[in-house]
Amino acid sequence: MAHGRFDNPVIASLAGVKDFFSKQKLEEQLKETHRVDSKTCLITGANSGLGFGIAVEMAKRGAYVIMAGRSAIPEAGEKVKKMSGSEKVEMIHLDLSRIDSIHQFCNTLEEKNIHPDITILNAGVALPKARMLESGLEEMFMVNYFSNFILTNLLLSKNLIKPLSKNENKPRIIYISSNSHQGSSYIDFDQFGKLNNYGVSQGISYYSYYKLVLNTLAIEFSRRLNKDDAVIPVHVICPGPVHSNIIKEAPWLLRKVLGGIFSLVFRSPAVAAKPVVYMAISEDYENSTGDYLHMFNPKKMDPKVYMEEEGEKLWKYSIDLWKRLDQNAITIDD
Ligand SMILES: NC(=O)c1ccc[n+]([C@@H]2O[C@H](COP(=O)([O-])OP(=O)(O)OC[C@H]3O[C@@H](n4cnc5c(N)ncnc54)[C@H](OP(=O)(O)O)[C@@H]3O)[C@@H](O)[C@H]2O)c1
Repeated sequence: MAHGRFDNPVIASLAGVKDFFSKQKLEEQLKETHRVDSKTCLITGANSGLGFGIAVEMAKRGAYVIMAGRSAIPEAGEKVKKMSGSEKVEMIHLDLSRIDSIHQFCNTLEEKNIHPDITILNAGVALPKARMLESGLEEMFMVNYFSNFILTNLLLSKNLIKPLSKNENKPRIIYISSNSHQGSSYIDFDQFGKLNNYGVSQGISYYSYYKLVLNTLAIEFSRRLNKDDAVIPVHVICPGPVHSNIIKEAPWLLRKVLGGIFSLVFRSPAVAAKPVVYMAISEDYENSTGDYLHMFNPKKMDPKVYMEEEGEKLWKYSIDLWKRLDQNAITIDD
């Protein structure tokens, strides 16, 4: 059984058409004067699409940009340098489908003494059918949800993200999600981490469901890291429809149909990156936590995302699964 709101990728893309024309309430709030000169910004999946757009914008605004990705190294980084006019751009290999690669990535940050002030967890896939990884996990579950649980825990427990960074500003964590998570089912804990053998029509349903799981995690991190005050703000954003490479694995005909919709009414990565950059750097998101933007519009996520018992259960199931798979698992609870 699928759990997401959409079970048809064309209908899901058409929902993006409405977003394309919707009003952008806070658009004027992002100013050219918003700079991040002394900040380090880590972006996953930064070699392509939205992540690439965010990397260019952050580099233009003065950040030291760490582009984490599994491909186009170093070409994508060189392109960002050229487009932004900044040399403060570095690419580090990270394959989020592999736990050992996530460890290796964090070790590299440690060795290089890199402490992200802004962490943007952007990487994601939309697969047309389930794909089993060596670990026994399904790839979309791993990349879109579970790797984010592991990476965030490692960054925090290894003190790579520090509660107060060098310039005394609070570090910030942003999860890139999708508004398609709205209306997905409760988390199916009986199936948690198990192979859901979806096909083309159910792929989009699992995509939106895993975004609901991701958002539930974001709110759980937000609660755990900010007990009395906003110490490490954690926020979630949906960039709206982005003309990116997300459909690259879709079957040929579907890719043609979706590609047509994408090129007509989806926004360029450069435009879609703007609200993400706003949420990542504006003082408006400094003293709060657990906020959600749908492009430039503040919204509430699906009510299930905020349910404490769901968050706690997800936390427990995620730790148990990680510890079963990885003897080097280390969470913020350890
Ligand atoms: N496109 C949209 O309309 C839309 C709408 C709402 C939300 N989003 C979200 O926006 C985010 C970015 O997607 P996009 O639209 O920009 O698509 P994209 O162009 O396909 O970018 C996805 C990025 O994730 C990376 N990635 C995938 N699997 C990975 C892995 N195993 N390890 C490391 N990196 C991996 C990709 O790397 P490779 O290039 O190596 O594959 C790529 O850099 C995703 O979280 C997506 O769910 C997109």
